[in-house]
Amino acid sequence: MNSKIKNILKKKNKSKIVSLTAYSKNIARILDKYCDIVLVGDSMANVLYGLKNTHEISIDNIIQHTLSVKKGIKKSLLVVDMPKGSYVNKKIAKKNAKLIMSLTKCDAVKLESNSKNYEIIKELVKSKIPVMGHIGYTPQFKKKFKVEGFTPNQEKELINEAIKIEKAGAFSIVLECIYSKCAEKITKKLRIPTIGIGSSNFCDGQILVTDDMIGLSGFYPKFVKKYTFINRIIEKAVKKYTRDVKTNKFPTKKNFLNG
Ligand code: KIV
Repeated sequence: MNSKIKNILKKKNKSKIVSLTAYSKNIARILDKYCDIVLVGDSMANVLYGLKNTHEISIDNIIQHTLSVKKGIKKSLLVVDMPKGSYVNKKIAKKNAKLIMSLTKCDAVKLESNSKNYEIIKELVKSKIPVMGHIGYTPQFKKKFKVEGFTPNQEKELINEAIKIEKAGAFSIVLECIYSKCAEKITKKLRIPTIGIGSSNFCDGQILVTDDMIGLSGFYPKFVKKYTFINRIIEKAVKKYTRDVKTNKFPTKKNFLNG
């Protein structure tokens, strides 16, 4: 097993797993210093491409961005989202996961659960492709963004789903927008680490979309803590540049290229 994955597994019940998303080298280089896991998420659809949902992101988009991110990664575990339609059956999933792994040299792929694709996870793991699961709000399969696991029935279903994903061989699992008590129960039941997003601090680790937590995406749901408003910083710089160009303060002799 990949030593980076071993290290992630060892963190269960010991230290929290830090994870964020990246779509490019420059962001990845910053994250790599602090994150255990960097995810090339299909959230790039909304965040980067301004699409309505994640469904239109292609495997080529994912590979292209992963190649960029990989250039900024030295130590973190690099996980890549398999886009919608790329794992509709075992054969297609294996072909596409192998393509992603071999072209990008990433460490693992992430698959959203539709409560049926356990055999696909099993097949990938059998082929030595490390898999991260993803349950709760799974944008590839669910239209409505809502908290999951609130009722006893939903809780039971989510716990079963998580157990089946662990049994299929996944090395960790994202819990997205899962009610805190349910996230706690899942985390206690599983041997593999849970990575929460909008699912409380009972999880073994946390992930956020970087553009959300730095205030760039304009998407500010309750579960996202805004650590800065980078959009304001960028705007200030652009405003200053505009003023300088218009008033002939930039470029000055300092910026001239001589010879
Ligand atoms: O695509 C993504 O960024 C994700 C995270 C929200 C977990 O799947």
